[in-house]
Amino acid sequence: MKTANQDIMPITRKINTKGNVEIGGCDLTELANKYGTPLYIFDEATIRSMTRSYKDAFKSYPKMKMVYASKAFMTKAICKIMAQEGFGLDLCSGGEIYTADSSGFNMAETLFNGNNKTFEELTMAIDTGISRISVDNFYELELLNDIAKSKNKEVKILMRITPGIECHTHEYIKTGTIDSKFGFDLTQIDEAVNLITSEYKNLKLCGFHAHIGSQIFEKQVYYDEIGVIFKEIKRVNDKFGLNLNEINIGGGLGIKYTNEDKPISVYDIAETIIKSIEYHCDKYNLEPPYVYIEPGRSIIGTSGVTIYTAGSSKQASNGRRYQAIDGGMSDNIRPSLYQAEYTVEIANKPNETEQEIVTIAGKHCESGDILAKDVKLPIIEEGDVICFYDTGAYGYSMSSNYNRVLKPAAVLVNNGKSDIIINRQTYEELTHNDVIPESIMND
Ligand code: LLP
Repeated sequence: MKTANQDIMPITRKINTKGNVEIGGCDLTELANKYGTPLYIFDEATIRSMTRSYKDAFKSYPKMKMVYASKAFMTKAICKIMAQEGFGLDLCSGGEIYTADSSGFNMAETLFNGNNKTFEELTMAIDTGISRISVDNFYELELLNDIAKSKNKEVKILMRITPGIECHTHEYIKTGTIDSKFGFDLTQIDEAVNLITSEYKNLKLCGFHAHIGSQIFEKQVYYDEIGVIFKEIKRVNDKFGLNLNEINIGGGLGIKYTNEDKPISVYDIAETIIKSIEYHCDKYNLEPPYVYIEPGRSIIGTSGVTIYTAGSSKQASNGRRYQAIDGGMSDNIRPSLYQAEYTVEIANKPNETEQEIVTIAGKHCESGDILAKDVKLPIIEEGDVICFYDTGAYGYSMSSNYNRVLKPAAVLVNNGKSDIIINRQTYEELTHNDVIPESIMND
């Protein structure tokens, strides 16, 4: 069965009677007028259709635990939706822990990941009652045990391992290969387990965690990853007399940014994952474990679009036409960082047949601030509303104030209604933390 991550556009996207693009029953040009641009727009129906697809696809394996990878896009409203959908949260910083906790999220349904968690963050994780901490390295084992001991608590942990699986994605978003900054190398597992079981009495090892990468289009890598984790579970259980029964297989399922992308459906990946679990339970004679999966991009990516207003334009003497917009690399760093490509539409005239090749440039003081190079679009005029699809994941969450450009607002749309989920930043907020020290106040 097809799932929303396999389409470029949110499931509610249509062209209305005015000939404008509409998402969640809201005309994008009206949203631009009401909230200003740049604006991130999230389609609630698409988000919920993805969470429900995950639930449905894995329903034959009741010990599956879905946790949304908050790093893809997190606000208190998203935490609420995840709670309503029966998802937990994968958190990776003090800021994410704070956001979840202050939104009222049940912290017993959260996990904490990261390769350099600080003393303060680990303390916060224990104090807020995060259910599992995925320990990444020897340094963290000792630090976490010390904190747990000082609080006289037992902390349940997973051990993040590097399974040595190659997947075909961008170098920067591969994480499961041997040469990775994340996790224990397979050769370090025994030493770590030995320390946990003999010295770190305040830590309770429950199982292993791995994450092989992001924007993945293959099924086999998940099958293989699960094989590696099971092999280690079996080996460690036998050698140390343990009964580890939890595995976390990470996130990574890809979405469709352009027509060239061919992501697989959640049902397909679920079938492969369940098959691999069953095969390896049988092979190693293990009880079916609890299995965490941490999807981020595939849950939120397709639901989100960004709209901009067209401003200046330029015809370069080599023939290239540049059209500038009122945002750029500060609200979407992915084109400059990963050469990511997007599908673009003009929201107020999506179907116009007269077209040209144009390069959409951001407003930042940097030549590399190009959001889409040489794309075919209707002739753009000043004031047109330009829509970039699939900016829901790693768009706002990687945004910055480069050039002291304000962070845009975000709205949630559904059934013709739009609600702010993040206010547009103001100049007062932008400068709120600036301090002019007395020593240079000379007037
Ligand atoms: N679990 C762990 C431990 C992770 O490190 C990640 C993503 C996820 C889950 C979620 O992966 P997803 O389902 O979203 O692929 N900024 C990059 C993506 C970095 C992903 C980092 N880790 C981008 O914009 O493509």
